Amino acid sequence: QTETLRLTPSPADLERAAGLLRAGELVAFPTETVYGLGADATNGTAVAAIYTAKGRPSFNPLIAHVPDAEAARAHVEWSDLAEQLAAAFWPGPLTLVLPLKPGHGISELTTAGLPTLGVRVPDQPTAQRLLRAVGRPVAAPSANPSGRISPTTADHVLAGLAGRIAAVLDDGPTEVGVESTILGLSDAPVLLRPGGVPAEAIEAVLGHPLPRRAGDAAINAPGQLRSHYAPAAPVRLNAEAPGPGELFLGFGTRDGDLNLSPGGDLAEAAAHLFGYLHRLDARGAPIAVAPIPETGLGAAINDRLRRAAAPRD
Ligand code: TXA
Ligand code: MG
Repeated sequence: QTETLRLTPSPADLERAAGLLRAGELVAFPTETVYGLGADATNGTAVAAIYTAKGRPSFNPLIAHVPDAEAARAHVEWSDLAEQLAAAFWPGPLTLVLPLKPGHGISELTTAGLPTLGVRVPDQPTAQRLLRAVGRPVAAPSANPSGRISPTTADHVLAGLAGRIAAVLDDGPTEVGVESTILGLSDAPVLLRPGGVPAEAIEAVLGHPLPRRAGDAAINAPGQLRSHYAPAAPVRLNAEAPGPGELFLGFGTRDGDLNLSPGGDLAEAAAHLFGYLHRLDARGAPIAVAPIPETGLGAAINDRLRRAAAPRD
């Protein structure tokens, strides 16, 4: 049990956070998607502590966060396609999975022993300054206990992890609200997880349709576990209206206890998703959710909702 510091984005606090990370401590930090639980990606002991803090049952590959494409190129085999996608979407909510290159320096615990690395450049000013101050890649899953709802505020992080991590850098609520899109690029491009960059936007850059990775194909873990991002209460999807005793999470003209976006805007709905699930979950009743269109960011929202509603292990 350690005391968890709540740090601000002031220069002194950012230096402190960077120093803690370089010393092998765990620091949660904001990104544009969700808060991440950061550790020095080159330090196996530090990365191992992420699993202890989250209570994650097994080792899964983690995303390495870097301040720009040049920093990414120090660790992975770059390609023309990677360059094109980085130019279009970095900084931003897109993770590229690329082959590790010789002398990459990344701990095997970060990659879970895979020959590839997921890298991303977050579009959040505090994250940017932190990564530049650390000067090393930072491995970070979402900063929530394993299997629970992802955190979009520092309060969510503290509610789940206080006493288990050294610090959380508080820079307010995250803007995008769902995790990054993960694109496999070690072979032909394949969508590994829908997220903050709509698949349609990637397809527009590629100039062809993007294959989605089939159901439960392999390697990928927490984001791919069927039950994940789960509130404590049962969740029912595509509900036209709440049943007896149910709370209703609305969308558009289907209003409820909370409405993800009264105007039917998917970006607004994504930004509200995890925070509203946290709020409804705190009320302890089953949750019914209105239908959300499957287009654009709706694919990521529905993916997270299906996991929230999946049978629990
Ligand atoms: O927006 C995000 O991506 C957030 C913020 C903190 O950056 N991070 C995040 O991390 O969502 P996490 O650990 O909750 O999800 C990472 C996903 C996992 O499903 C993992 O299996 C996949 O990325 N992944 C990481 N490295 C991979 C690799 N080398 N090959 C395939 N999948 C990989
Ligand atoms: Mg997660």
